[in-house]
Amino acid sequence: MKVLESSPHRYDKGIRILTLGKIDEIYDRLVENIDKGDHVLDIGCGTGMLSVRAINKGASVVGIDINPQMLEIASKRAEQLDYQAELELLEMGVAEMDGFEDSSFDKVMSSLCFSELPEYELEYTLIQTRRVLKEEGLFIIGDENKPRTLIKKILNFLIRFPLVLITYILTQTTTSALYNLDLKLQSSGFELISVRNNKLENFIEIIARKSKESLS
Ligand SMILES: C[S@@+](CC[C@H](N)C(=O)[O-])C[C@H]1O[C@@H](n2cnc3c(N)ncnc32)[C@H](O)[C@@H]1O
Repeated sequence: MKVLESSPHRYDKGIRILTLGKIDEIYDRLVENIDKGDHVLDIGCGTGMLSVRAINKGASVVGIDINPQMLEIASKRAEQLDYQAELELLEMGVAEMDGFEDSSFDKVMSSLCFSELPEYELEYTLIQTRRVLKEEGLFIIGDENKPRTLIKKILNFLIRFPLVLITYILTQTTTSALYNLDLKLQSSGFELISVRNNKLENFIEIIARKSKESLS
């Protein structure tokens, strides 16, 4: 993905190729958990495809991303939809999430960003997300996942290899994946509401809730 993001104007096309056109239905499913009036943080918002869907549902969104070119596309998208008031875009990394106040968001969402974070930054992001969420706030995630069983690992490699190659040739993009995100969420003070894997277990959608108990 990182190489794709060096050509952000190709990003939306590249991501549709990589997900065999499934990304739009994934975004639609993720925002089913957004309600009118929600104040939402979109981590690694990229070109804003998920953010604008949340706004369509009546939310206001703060989108953060380290890539100014991706944010520029998100900004144009918001402008075209007349969503400038509903979408605040901030050029910042997850490492700066400590700047947000405690309990300031109803929902935090992220698609395809966590697979780009080093492990220590993912851990930090989970801690910060729990802090910035209101009590019982939802954490909504869609991302690439490493299958757990050997057969699915092999199948995943065989199916994805030509796809990744074609995508790389067309868009100069590559990809990575998360492992055990469900377990990491639980040990970071989240209660799993739903976990949805596709058949190959190479894409995971998780809805988690900030649990009431404070972590010791
Ligand atoms: C694959 S894109 C996904 C974009 C968007 N969420 C989507 O679903 O299309 C990953 C995004 O995460 C951003 N990103 C990567 N590392 C980040 C970090 N440390 N802090 C904030 N954003 C980051 C990248 O700049 C990129 O825009």
